[in-house]
Amino acid sequence: MSLRDDTRRWRALDDRHHLHPFTVFPELRAKGSRVIVGAEGCHVWDSEGRRYLDGMAGLWCVNAGYGRERLVEAARRQMAELPFYNTFFMTTTPAVAELAGKLAEILPEGLDRVIFMNSGSEANDTVIKTVRYYWNLMGRPEKKTLIARTLGYHGVGLGSASLTGMGFMHKPFDLPLPGFAHIGNPYHFAEGGDEDPETFGLRAAGWLEAKILEIGPEKVAAFVAEPIQGAGGVIIPPEGYWPEVQRICERYDVLLVADEVICGFGRTGNWWGSDTYGIRPDIVPMAKGLTSGYLPMAAVALGRRVGDAVAGAAGEYAHGVTWSGHPVAAAVALENIRLIEEEGLHLRAGGPIGACFAERLATLADHPLVGEVRAKGLLACIELVEDKAAKRPYPSARKAGLTCREHCFENGLIMRAVRDGMILSPPLVISEAEIDEIVTKARVALDATARDLGR
Ligand SMILES: Cc1ncc(COP(=O)(O)O)c(C=O)c1O
Repeated sequence: MSLRDDTRRWRALDDRHHLHPFTVFPELRAKGSRVIVGAEGCHVWDSEGRRYLDGMAGLWCVNAGYGRERLVEAARRQMAELPFYNTFFMTTTPAVAELAGKLAEILPEGLDRVIFMNSGSEANDTVIKTVRYYWNLMGRPEKKTLIARTLGYHGVGLGSASLTGMGFMHKPFDLPLPGFAHIGNPYHFAEGGDEDPETFGLRAAGWLEAKILEIGPEKVAAFVAEPIQGAGGVIIPPEGYWPEVQRICERYDVLLVADEVICGFGRTGNWWGSDTYGIRPDIVPMAKGLTSGYLPMAAVALGRRVGDAVAGAAGEYAHGVTWSGHPVAAAVALENIRLIEEEGLHLRAGGPIGACFAERLATLADHPLVGEVRAKGLLACIELVEDKAAKRPYPSARKAGLTCREHCFENGLIMRAVRDGMILSPPLVISEAEIDEIVTKARVALDATARDLGR
């Protein structure tokens, strides 16, 4: 069977039997799936031999890059030794105990207990249940509302999707559930107008205080937010935003949850986005970079306040899943963290390579379609606009972002479109030459998009 026949067969099977996440199925059917078959370093290739620079590190997760034999070997070793045992009935495994200890070592001060899950969504459902449980233990059952942001992304479970702010994820599923509230985002480009970023950042933090007072501080349980919003469009908060949010949470006795599913494991130039912004969270959900995407695994870390209450409770913490602490995922996560530490990858986005990423991407700002280029660590967004001076986006029907995404693919670059923001979150091992490759290919795609849009 030739390569082309294989591809045809996989596309037909996929089309007939596989329901993809977040997909308009008639559109997918009309185009057919791209079949990715291999990867090395920062590149992936498809079944027709086309090679792409993966500017999204899979889905914000392959932090260590593709093709890391150490991770493959860690999985093989653990599978041969003990492929599975659970952690329910007062049992543990060496890999899980070692991983919990290693996470406690690298997490921000005080976050020294972890619960294991398999996805960011499960981690955030665990956050919601643990926050409820904590306030029940404290004898304050009325303190239950969780506040998040309208462009915050926290997953797809009934609870985690309720925490997520995007309306298009709520309406079709009759969400959010009761007990969730949302505030605006520290999104200076879209909402800051002529205000300087610092003033705008303080004003955006003030929306949290206003919402707490509207609901009543005695009813607000927690504020949940990503240090930098990823799937909402790489929204990088002004420097003063987080300190003000921290102050507000402390003032009203509201738990602070930093969703580190994207920012964790080096994405912003430190182990945690919380380190980068000086956040002192009570709870930290994490996933993605925990295993660099080599296996599914997530975790929720608890600080002393919540952790001591949970670990000291006389009753049962009736929560956990079969794969809570799967030993093979744990072995891979542990090896991944060691690899990141040994190669200094957790600091790389904050050093010369992060600076190079920001500088070279900034050269795209002169393009007629580009309204702003913003970057922090190895996260970036290139905002496409119809009117540069007025920062006015195209009407969504013009599909500027999706058009650009397609031109990127045609030119061997993977960027994601969030509205009309072109998103980058490459593997942390990216080289200067590969950053140049991104910029060159992005410019070709921007030119082609401009032509399609009649510019
Ligand atoms: C910040 C954040 N939290 C939670 C999630 C949900 O993770 P998962 O897709 O593994 O359920 C994501 C996924 O992109 C995310 O970006």
